[in-house]
Amino acid sequence: MPSVVLVGSQWGDEGKGKVTDFLAEKADLVVRYQGGNNAGHTVVVGENEFKLHLIPSGILYPEKTCIIGNGVVIDPAVLIQELEYLASRGINTDNLRISERAHIIMPYHKKLDELIEESKGDAKIGTTKRGIGPAYMDKAARVGIRFIDLLDEEEFSLLLDRNLREKNNLLTKVYGVDGFNKDDIMREYRVYAERLKRYATDTSIVIHDALKGGKNVLFEGAQGTLLDLDHGTYPYVTSSHPIAGAACIGAGLGPTEISRVLGIIKAYTTRVGEGPFPTELREEVGRHLQDIGHEFGTTTGRPRRCGWFDAVIARYTVRISGLNSMAVTKLDVLTGMEMIKICTGYRRGDKIVNDFPASLKTLAECEPIYEEMPGWQEDISSAKKFEDLPIAAQNYLKRISELAGAPISIIGVGTRRTQTIIIDNLF
Ligand code: IMP
Ligand code: MG
Repeated sequence: MPSVVLVGSQWGDEGKGKVTDFLAEKADLVVRYQGGNNAGHTVVVGENEFKLHLIPSGILYPEKTCIIGNGVVIDPAVLIQELEYLASRGINTDNLRISERAHIIMPYHKKLDELIEESKGDAKIGTTKRGIGPAYMDKAARVGIRFIDLLDEEEFSLLLDRNLREKNNLLTKVYGVDGFNKDDIMREYRVYAERLKRYATDTSIVIHDALKGGKNVLFEGAQGTLLDLDHGTYPYVTSSHPIAGAACIGAGLGPTEISRVLGIIKAYTTRVGEGPFPTELREEVGRHLQDIGHEFGTTTGRPRRCGWFDAVIARYTVRISGLNSMAVTKLDVLTGMEMIKICTGYRRGDKIVNDFPASLKTLAECEPIYEEMPGWQEDISSAKKFEDLPIAAQNYLKRISELAGAPISIIGVGTRRTQTIIIDNLF
């Protein structure tokens, strides 16, 4: 029962889309288990580039089953757009299955995401304003609307009434903006229900049956460890759990059924949104990484903040998600640099900090301790095996693996599916 969980190991945007897509080739099932359309995956197949937000990138293979698990929050309008986008590009989406237990993003969630964010002033999180946080708030408050409820007109109407009573009060009385009209939402969401009902099922059963039948299942995490609600740089996090353990909750299986965890980690570090980032490069080198690495958000288009590889973060993610190995992505972006820095630990006053701190105040006071390594000038974009890489690149990888405490099983050397060095096959 080879089941692999793939997780982001930094602040998201590690290039998970490409690795998922690459591994999907061997998987029978690809499962999303948390987040929503705050995520954005860019996948390049041949000459074609695909941008996906909700549907697992495994959809690009016609014979794979793709699952949106119960832990995901779904904006039905966005999902339908994505289905239509894929259809217009000749991709068949019949093999998509959506958990009946997944929660639905409502118009008031998006409005509240904006209003809550604005009201925070300087303390704003920098959310994607897709309604993700407020949808998970309602889920935890036990007033959310699930996919199964959306499909049941009577139930949906009842839940909408209850929600609008509270939300419209909040919108008009606290935020001083207009509330929402029930009939408008009913009309809009009935259309969504009709369009999406054929995908609804108990996806946990589909996954269990696949595992029982010896099939390969790939769990595709969105975002990254440091955006995890519990383990990330709280409050500058997303409202779900991007770590490996969340696959169990967000897909409906036990930890005993997971065979391997692969952490996707960029050869340097990036972050979109607010919050401390110890190895951030504000000057030329940061802009260079942003340029060469095309570090602009797939979802919001915002420039990503860039910095050197941080081994404190790598060690943290190895521990929190129990990584068996890592996929190091975008190594080619570092080509051409004379010297490359690796952060091995932090210095705070006269103390050395080796473990990622809980306090953001502490984190903001941490100065990275750097080790310098010589760069390489050779083009590595067509390297097929580890030995094809220049010695300096090999040494860089060996060092980050040693500092992180996990072996490397995949190396990304370019955007294409073929520009991937496989050290060890996961399935
Ligand atoms: P939210 O998920 O829209 O609530 O945003 C919360 C924080 O997570 C913000 O800093 C976002 O920029 C960040 N974030 C959410 N999704 C992603 C992602 O897929 N990649 C990178 N950052 C993300
Ligand atoms: Mg992304």
